[in-house]
Amino acid sequence: MPMQNVRTTPIDGQKPGTSGLRKKTAVFKRPHYLENYVQAIFDGIGGIAGKTLVVGGDGRYFNDSAIQIILRMAAANDAAKCIVGQGGILSTPAASHLIRLRQAGGGLILSASHNPGGPDADFGLKYNGPNGGPASEAVTDKIFERTKTLDFYKIIAADDVDLGTIGTQTLEDMTVEIVDPVADYAALMQTIVDFDKIRALFAGGFTMCFDAMHAVTGPYAYAILEGELGAAKGTVINGMPSPDFGGGHPDPNPIWAKELMDKMLGANAPDFGAASDGDGDRNMIVGRGAYVTPSDSLALLTAKAHLAPAYSSGLSGVARSMPTSRAVDRVAASLGIECFETPTGWKFFGNLLDAGKVTLCGEESAGTGSDHVREKDGLWAVLLWLNILAETKKSVADLMGDLWAAHGRCYYARLDYEDVDSDKAHAMVDALRTALPSLGGKAVGGMTVENADEFSYLDPVDGSTSAGQGIRIAFAGGARAVFRLSGTGTQGATIRIYLEQLETDPDRLHLEPGTVLAQVRGAALALSDLTAMTGRVDPDVVT
Ligand code: G1P
Ligand code: ZN
Repeated sequence: MPMQNVRTTPIDGQKPGTSGLRKKTAVFKRPHYLENYVQAIFDGIGGIAGKTLVVGGDGRYFNDSAIQIILRMAAANDAAKCIVGQGGILSTPAASHLIRLRQAGGGLILSASHNPGGPDADFGLKYNGPNGGPASEAVTDKIFERTKTLDFYKIIAADDVDLGTIGTQTLEDMTVEIVDPVADYAALMQTIVDFDKIRALFAGGFTMCFDAMHAVTGPYAYAILEGELGAAKGTVINGMPSPDFGGGHPDPNPIWAKELMDKMLGANAPDFGAASDGDGDRNMIVGRGAYVTPSDSLALLTAKAHLAPAYSSGLSGVARSMPTSRAVDRVAASLGIECFETPTGWKFFGNLLDAGKVTLCGEESAGTGSDHVREKDGLWAVLLWLNILAETKKSVADLMGDLWAAHGRCYYARLDYEDVDSDKAHAMVDALRTALPSLGGKAVGGMTVENADEFSYLDPVDGSTSAGQGIRIAFAGGARAVFRLSGTGTQGATIRIYLEQLETDPDRLHLEPGTVLAQVRGAALALSDLTAMTGRVDPDVVT
């Protein structure tokens, strides 16, 4: 029996964050590093003997070799079966669906999301539970604890599994089933949106550009948009997944999806543009000459979801992460449904979705989703938009104009300061926290602080509390600034400042966001003393 218990040393300190563990690829490739983490996951979730696991990733460099290791370890840990996407490919939402569809004991998803891939870039791995969603804090804590004490891992010696051929193989006593990564996901989408209506839209000459950013959604977009729905050939661009995402950042925002933005803002722009990220859970929506912020997209989908078959009887409620703009709150209020505010990270939506309290949810970071899976879902958001466009026959710009006229417009921007010295970043947040009690009523940069606090979330389903989830400063007149440190960066600290300004004056709904936000930006920088505290002047990225 070629089973080995490999002696190892603990990898203390590797706490999985909001979306699993992300590190430089070279770290994951260190001897025994991946193996230690995988064994800590298996032990942390109470063992995998007799369980079925779903395994797949976004196709980035090291995806396939890592899967071979995971399969040999799953066999050594007595898993009954692993269901693997062909070629090792599964988008995050497709993996979430497969876990639920097959009632698996969970899944391992290999991705560093929108971070670049390659030998000198990033890799990641996360465990999703039997509900198809990211592991809860309690589970990631157990995995983390296990990394501190682990002194051996289990692996069998065996030849590589053939990941390219659909069908069933065996690895010792474990079954390995290789499945089409797209088929089940496409079938799910057919139950949610009206494929016939969207087909008719495209048949009528509607044009679209979908930028897969050389990442995992390429195969899904070809099959669904150009295949099932009849969008013109060439609708999908950058559709071949590549191990380094064509050398780019597979991050769907106006900065990194520049090729798409240029098309949409240029002459002869298509009617509709969209992009998705490395692992297919994020989305960017852009109309002809009209970029839609993710916060506004969530508000629009909430207002119009009833036009799609799956949501025709209305939404039970909606949720947004705290830094996401309050546009969706205003739509929810008009619909008479509840709007929940959760900490950043998809795992907080899971309980609300499982309990049936919300149907749609989303984040300012280009994540939108619904109760069909337990992850955000890029292509689903695009399809729901298409369904709405097909039903209303309006342009993206007109839909947004109507939304703002009805509910006001929440101008919005996020400033990211990347690779900041970690001590300095923490010192800045600590100083803000200390100042909170004295901020109420304070005048700064022409604005007055109405309320300032640090967000703490009481989960209405399981009663757990998550404290320290970001600093919120509300100003008189509908402006807000939020400060938090990223939990997903792989180098130094990333400071995020989120700015928002509500405008309800009909004459002020079509202004340049940067101009409208200038005052709250000045106030936020003054309150945090960012430049003095960190030495940074301009943000690296503004989205
Ligand atoms: C970022 C986003 C957050 C998202 C997470 C995982 O986390 O801000 O909304 O859930 O990536 O995709 P952060 O780096 O801000 O902790
Ligand atoms: Zn992602």
